[in-house]
Amino acid sequence: MKFVSVSSLQPGMVLGRDIVSPSQSFMLKRGVTLNDEYIDYLEQKGYLGAYITDKDNLDIEPEEPIDIKTLSQSVSAVKESNVGELLNSAKQIVADISKLKQLSIDLLDLRSFDEYTYRHSVNVAVYAVAVAKSMGLTDEELEQIALAGICHDLGKQKIPSDIINKPGQLSDEEYKEIKNHPQYGYDILKDNREIPSTVRQAVLFHHENENGSGYPMGKTGQETSLITKILHVVDVYDALISKRPYKHPYTPYDAFEYLMGGRDILFNGKVVDAMRKVIPTYPIATDVQLSTGEMAVVSAHTNDPLRPVVRIVGTNYDMDLSKPEFENIAITQSNISNNIFTGKVDELNEKRQSVKSKKIDIMLVDDSIVSLQTTTVALENDNYNLIALQSGLAAINYIKTKGVPDLIIMDIEMPTLDGIATVTAIREMGYSDLPIIILTSNTHKETILKCISVHAKDYILKPVRPVYLRERVAVALNASQER
Ligand SMILES: [Fe+2]
Ligand SMILES: [Fe+2]
Repeated sequence: MKFVSVSSLQPGMVLGRDIVSPSQSFMLKRGVTLNDEYIDYLEQKGYLGAYITDKDNLDIEPEEPIDIKTLSQSVSAVKESNVGELLNSAKQIVADISKLKQLSIDLLDLRSFDEYTYRHSVNVAVYAVAVAKSMGLTDEELEQIALAGICHDLGKQKIPSDIINKPGQLSDEEYKEIKNHPQYGYDILKDNREIPSTVRQAVLFHHENENGSGYPMGKTGQETSLITKILHVVDVYDALISKRPYKHPYTPYDAFEYLMGGRDILFNGKVVDAMRKVIPTYPIATDVQLSTGEMAVVSAHTNDPLRPVVRIVGTNYDMDLSKPEFENIAITQSNISNNIFTGKVDELNEKRQSVKSKKIDIMLVDDSIVSLQTTTVALENDNYNLIALQSGLAAINYIKTKGVPDLIIMDIEMPTLDGIATVTAIREMGYSDLPIIILTSNTHKETILKCISVHAKDYILKPVRPVYLRERVAVALNASQER
C-alpha cells in the first residue's frame, strides 16, 4: 500500500487500512472504495491522508504499532481521566510494542482535529515506549513511560479549548495559561498512590529543556529523569508533525531538523539519536522524490535513517540508497505533507492571517553580511517584516528614531558595540520585556551566563538550521507549533 495525502485522494481508490475515529463515530474499513463524499469528509475533519491499496506496492505493508483496541481503550481512558484504565492502557501499549517484528513506528497517525489531544497523548506514549525500549530501559520503566505519555497533557482539559485551538499567536495571558498545563496535570495525579512518583514528575517536567529554558520551573537536564527527557523529545516531535487548526504539519524530516538543531540545548542528544533509529525520517509507504527527478515509495529501512530502500513508481525496482553505488542519488522531497494544505487548514490559516493585520517586525543585527543573508533567507515569510542591520549602534539608532521591533535576533561578536552591550543598552532604554534571541558561534559558558543576565529569550548557535531558527522565532513570539 501507499500513503496518499488528502488532497491527492481520488474517487475509486481503495483503502489499504482502516480509518477509525477512536470514539467509533466514524469508520472506513480496509477495502472500502473511496467516493467524493468520503474524501470531502476526511478533508473537512482535518485528516492528513489515507493508506491506499496500490498494485505496484502490495507487499509494502507497515506494521500497526498498537492494536486498534488498545488505541480506543487508551483514548477513552485519557478522555475520562480514569486512572485504572490509564494503568491498563499503559501495560497494553508496552505489550503491543513488544510484539512488533521491527522496532520502528512507521504508520502515520490518521486523526482528525477533534481528536487531537487524546490521540496525541497515545502517540506520545507509543513513541516514548519505542525510544525507551531501544535505549534498553526495563519493562517496569517502559510501563512508567507509557503511563507518563498518556497522562502528560491531562492538564490541558482544564484549559478552555478556544485557547488550545486558537488560530495564530497567543496573547501573553493565554500563553501563560497554556504553560500551566503540566502543573494542572500533576495536580490531577498527585494524590493517586497507584501512579508512581516518577510518572508524576515526568508529567510535571515534560516541557523542561536541557538548558533550563523550559517551563513550568526551568529545571535543567541535570535535574530531570531519562523518562522525562524522552517524553519531552517525543512530545515535541508529535506536536510538530501534527496538523493543527493553527498550523501546517512539519514533515518528519523537518521535525528531526528541529530536534537536531536543539540537540543538547533543548533536547537530550542521546534521546534524539535513539529516536532517529526507531522513528523513521522517511516512513514506509510514503512518497519521495529523488534527485534524478523520479518519484518513489519508501519500501524498507536501512541502517542510515536518511537513506532508505525506495521503489521507483511504476516499476518493481527497489533501490537501496544506503549502497555505495547509489551515493549520488539524494532524496529531494518527501511528500507526506506536500499538497495537503487544502480545505479546513487553508480556511483556518486565512482566518489566522486576518487576525494578524499587522506584520511582525523582526530586527536582525549582525556584522557579517553572509550571516545576515542566511538569517534573512531562513525567516522570509509574508508575516514578517525583516530589518537587517550591521551594528549594535545602528540597532540603537533605529529603535530611537523608528521605534521598537517585535523581536530582535542579535549576534554577539561585533566591532565597537558587542551584542551583549547592545542588549544592555536596549534594556536600559526601558524595553525590559522585548524578546531578544542571541545568535552566535560562541559556546563559552561565560557567554551563556551573559545572555541570561541580559534576559535573552533564547540562545542559538551558528551555523543555524533554518527550520530550527524559524521555530525558535515562533516560540519567542508565542506562536509556537508545539504549544
Ligand atoms: Fe504538554
Ligand atoms: Fe503534549
